[in-house]
Amino acid sequence: MTPASLSMGEGNTPLVLLPTLARKWGMNKIWAKAEYLNPTGSYKDRIARTTMIEALSQGRRGWLGTSSGNGGAAMSAYGARAGLPGILCILADAPAEKVASIRPYGALMIAMKDLGSDEMLALKKIAEDENLLLTITAYAFNPEGMKGAEAIGEEIATYKTVSHVYLPTGGGGLLVATAIGLARGSSDAKVICVQPDECSPISQTVMGLIESPVIAACTTKISGLQLANPPDGLLAIEKITASDGWGVRVTDQAAWEMQDLLAREEGIFVEPASALALAGLHQDIESGKVTSHDEPVVVLTGSGLKDMTRFKTTSPSITYDIGQVRKLVQDSLSSKGVSE
Ligand SMILES: Cc1ncc(COP(=O)(O)O)c(C=O)c1O
Repeated sequence: MTPASLSMGEGNTPLVLLPTLARKWGMNKIWAKAEYLNPTGSYKDRIARTTMIEALSQGRRGWLGTSSGNGGAAMSAYGARAGLPGILCILADAPAEKVASIRPYGALMIAMKDLGSDEMLALKKIAEDENLLLTITAYAFNPEGMKGAEAIGEEIATYKTVSHVYLPTGGGGLLVATAIGLARGSSDAKVICVQPDECSPISQTVMGLIESPVIAACTTKISGLQLANPPDGLLAIEKITASDGWGVRVTDQAAWEMQDLLAREEGIFVEPASALALAGLHQDIESGKVTSHDEPVVVLTGSGLKDMTRFKTTSPSITYDIGQVRKLVQDSLSSKGVSE
């Protein structure tokens, strides 16, 4: 495998319109950047590609990383393709689907109670000592790898009418990468940081509520966004401010409701972190910060198949026979108000 051929069709994701939501919310256009279409179902594939190219060109023995699930799946897949063994420290409470989807690739998974800045610094030392590439998806730890995500911004920048880019934000790396790409593509879109209410160190700092982007603990349930001390926090604030953007805080409940609405109204099923960004946009439309003439983009970072917790039924499954089906069909159609 030569580094240059280490590609599985990641990137160049489409911008798709959300026409029903736009109409409901009084907007002319709302765009979604369909990052859930990447090979392992999230934008992290872009970073995994450049990271493994870096590992090969530096002659590393393998890779060592942390993950809440998406980065782990991406690194495991691209690591397998590069022929590099991997070790992944993964949050013990990561969604079962994220963990299961990493297993096929054969990387060693180490379940961790916490994956904060102390753990990341300790892993950096182990990686250096063992000649492994550290694959944490943040500029603070893996700046070469993060360059892969900058194309998100460059691709959005080709749409000159885009006014705002809404990003679900945890460690801040995705936001920084997108902002760099937007600037490279000469876009003047505002960069908007959307964080869960219960873990919003970057948004709170931008709002002037706290001095610096570090909080004591996170209680949000939104996977991927649980970083109390975001490694790229300061850099993210710089990018938000430079673009004239702002920070938004959204409740977990609003993110889950938006996940359902997006699936039902537009047929797009994303994971809660992505839905949170859309909920952030909705909040800003409601408050008049974004108006009908704007053309916002929401980056839909990961597939809904990554976290099915809310969609599993616990009740015993009831089965029917064919004689009962006609009535069930008719009841269903009338409950939805579908005319004959
Ligand atoms: C689906 C999803 N969206 C957004 C993010 C946030 O990215 P960052 O931590 O770079 O801010 C993550 C991070 O893991 C994620 O998995």
